[in-house]
Amino acid sequence: MDEWSSFLNCSRIVKEIEEAVVPIAYVLQVLRESGKEWTVLDLCSGKGFFACLLCDVVANDNRIKPSQMKRVVMVDNDDNINWEHVKLLNEFHQGQNKLYAPIDTYRACVYSNEFSACLCGIMNPPKGGCSFPNIFVIGTHLCRRLSAHAVEVYNELVHATPNESKCALLLAPCCLPVFRGFCYIKGRCNTEETKTPTKPLAPLPGLTFSSDGETALYAQVCWHMVQAQEAGRNGIKLSEISKACKATSKMIKRVAYKGRRAGELKSEHGLWKCREWDEENGKFARMKAGSAVFEKEETTMDEGSGKILTEKFCSWTCAKDVPNFLSERGGRQCSILETKEDSQTFFKIDLFTLGLICNDQPFSYWVSALAAAVECGNEDTTVRIVQAPLVSGAHTEQEKNGNFQSERRSSWILAW
Ligand SMILES: C[S@@+](CC[C@H](N)C(=O)[O-])C[C@H]1O[C@@H](n2cnc3c(N)ncnc32)[C@H](O)[C@@H]1O
Repeated sequence: MDEWSSFLNCSRIVKEIEEAVVPIAYVLQVLRESGKEWTVLDLCSGKGFFACLLCDVVANDNRIKPSQMKRVVMVDNDDNINWEHVKLLNEFHQGQNKLYAPIDTYRACVYSNEFSACLCGIMNPPKGGCSFPNIFVIGTHLCRRLSAHAVEVYNELVHATPNESKCALLLAPCCLPVFRGFCYIKGRCNTEETKTPTKPLAPLPGLTFSSDGETALYAQVCWHMVQAQEAGRNGIKLSEISKACKATSKMIKRVAYKGRRAGELKSEHGLWKCREWDEENGKFARMKAGSAVFEKEETTMDEGSGKILTEKFCSWTCAKDVPNFLSERGGRQCSILETKEDSQTFFKIDLFTLGLICNDQPFSYWVSALAAAVECGNEDTTVRIVQAPLVSGAHTEQEKNGNFQSERRSSWILAW
């Protein structure tokens, strides 16, 4: 029993078991409904509570043929995780003299070449195995951009899979990558395009740290400051900028942060102004404001006097064309750009917009955006968002303290 201590004595064991229930339930459902044989790929598996419990449940569920789960592959890059219990479980099942799914562990970064080699190995099993396995990708509570990468891994498998094979995805994101910049997700094909298994996907940056929305709003903040300066004022209040820009003070502060650190802006006695307000006529702000192409003039006639009034205004946009499929897929509107390169469609998610415009529930927008980037693959694949709130004491405790960590972790993206 001592050898099992690192598994059984884990202080989080109840929480881990609870978190494994949803993925186990969906794997069982897919095994039963498909009647096919599957390889399960657990990305960023951690200690492997899910994999171990799954193997035991499948081995003991007589509604499923044990041969339907060929193997489980766990991948994690943490050198400190002790996987002794996985070895013990494999040995235990081997000793039982009945069919079971072995668990393979890979200590690799999911962005590395070793991981790509591991994927190739899964797709091309040694002779004697089935020609191309059906692969179920699982990502439980993946932090930051790891969720986007799980979508990329799934999309890549869908592209490489022959039509007779299937792929499934179950993903629970944990948190947004960052609150600025773009997150790129590759691999979702243009709807008219057929699968092109041999075509490599063009490389793209995972994250970039300047977003159109952020830049445009910053330019607009500068524009208002320059206007105030030209009107001979001594600065402008944050609330006034916020009202003029139709953006919350929090958003203004966030976009102005870089400018303040760089010394382009300053606030004094509640008034915001450009650093060079006096010395150089707000050179930096003027430059930023000038870089924005949104300044417009609107003329209206004053009904009383018949005079022509000219009003200068500027606007900023960052929520661009929201593709229809987002709502078709049960998603909600958020700032997603579909960009095409070499006839592939990539997803570019504006994290600034997600984090601030969707101020009320940025996380649910993040989940929707990820779901929208999932490749459907076979015609009968549907992508859904499933809510499965956790019920443990930890959740109630967190909710009481205003920490919605477990609420965030209860949205699952299912492609099947
Ligand atoms: C929040 S834990 C989730 C663990 C597990 N899926 C679960 O639900 O218990 C995130 C895991 O991702 C792993 N991880 C983080 N970055 C990784 C990367 N680039 N490649 C592989 N694993 C990574 C960490 O080591 C950690 O075990």
